[in-house]
Amino acid sequence: MLKNQAGDAKRDSLHGHWSSRMAFILAVTGSAVGLGNIWKFPYVAGENGGGAFVLVYLICVIVIGMPVMMSEILIGRRGRRNPVATMELLGKEEGSSPRWKWVGGMGVVGGILILSYYSVVAGWTLAYIVKSATGAFAGASAAAVGAEFDSFVGDWRQVGLTHTIFMALAIFVVARGVERGLEQAVRFMVPALLLLMFVLLAYSINSGYFGQGVSFMFTPDWTKLTWGSVLAALGQAFFTLSIGMGAVMAYGAYLPEETSITGASAAVVTADTGIAILAGLAIFPLVFANGLTPAAGPGLVFNTLPLAFGQMQGGVFFATIFFVLLAFAAWTSAIGLMEPAVAWIVERFNRTRAQATVMIGLLIWVIGFGSVLSFNVLADLTFLAGTIYDNVDYLTSNIMLPLGGLLIAVFAGWVMCRNSTSDELGNSGNLFKAWRILARFVAPLGILFVLLKAVGLLDWVASLIA
Ligand code: TRP
Repeated sequence: MLKNQAGDAKRDSLHGHWSSRMAFILAVTGSAVGLGNIWKFPYVAGENGGGAFVLVYLICVIVIGMPVMMSEILIGRRGRRNPVATMELLGKEEGSSPRWKWVGGMGVVGGILILSYYSVVAGWTLAYIVKSATGAFAGASAAAVGAEFDSFVGDWRQVGLTHTIFMALAIFVVARGVERGLEQAVRFMVPALLLLMFVLLAYSINSGYFGQGVSFMFTPDWTKLTWGSVLAALGQAFFTLSIGMGAVMAYGAYLPEETSITGASAAVVTADTGIAILAGLAIFPLVFANGLTPAAGPGLVFNTLPLAFGQMQGGVFFATIFFVLLAFAAWTSAIGLMEPAVAWIVERFNRTRAQATVMIGLLIWVIGFGSVLSFNVLADLTFLAGTIYDNVDYLTSNIMLPLGGLLIAVFAGWVMCRNSTSDELGNSGNLFKAWRILARFVAPLGILFVLLKAVGLLDWVASLIA
């Protein structure tokens, strides 16, 4: 695959290439589709009042998420290195500054922090495979399902153990490398997950509360929308699409020259958003049918779906398959979360991929105990955004990812010259112009405005002027 070694802009990646366009789309979809869609989206939407939040989230996905994803991929493919080195190289090459590498650096740190708690929740799904398979939820009441969850997360040893198992699985795949490891893991998971979501949806439609679920999700109640919720919607858009931290940039580095970045991005955004909406449509009717609250927090999915499976024909089977698929989806996302850090260690410190993966994996595993303990031993230790888990989540989703996305859009839209970007995106007339307007103006200004507004800075400045 070494095509153009001498050229200045056409470089080759050290880590190999995707075997095809489809392999790339599958890998990015695999990273995007994960706990963010099925576990996080419903609970954050529930906490933020539903409809209005969902609408803002969808707008963020389209006018900010899509152009930032395209920017990230094109930067990655042009640099063909890990995110830190790519930003440094392109910063110099485009006549700006090597200090852009700090954007890549923030992504490396962001991925490590996100995976530290992501792995903990992924561990819950592993435990739920076993619980489902052994019939723990068969015919169970809402109270019993809730008690099962509380007693499980209340025991730090069980949560710590499943977190450990999940990190071991993630390290195993990442250590094996781009082609052998990553591609195979994502091939069949997304279609299978989609199928199961439809099974759940059918159940929800029959629950008698489907209308209530739909109206909770799609009838905006603007009085419930604070600037904090808008920031949460923006953060969720970044989180669910895996953007703003260089993960998609790292994947873009392995992308063949001829693949359409616009087409690949559109496919990923569509699949990811579709699965999130499906998850919401399956979950909220169950919430209302069982008198639960949409604002239940991180346990929402674990309190509702087992209930539905417990009452369903063949529920033990479906529940087991569902949690297996969810664990798979989390696994393919974990791979993407580690990739920037691993690629950076490999290139910067001349380590083998296996060594780099074990180092980063162990670091993440240790940090993860902050989140393991947030649900039990240290549940009462709260500051700023809440528990340790809440703080790591807030810092990464609501601050680091939007900030990273802002800088990535500015880099692609303003620092890189028009020719460099049109070269990567394939100058397709209006589509390119639309991307450029979104990347130069809409995304950066939108992100900046929401960040400042949510922190209250904008009002403070306004009060100074008035
Ligand atoms: N998108 C993933 C999910 O929805 C989580 C995630 C956030 C991620 N950032 C990422 C995955 C970067 C891979 C790479 O579950």
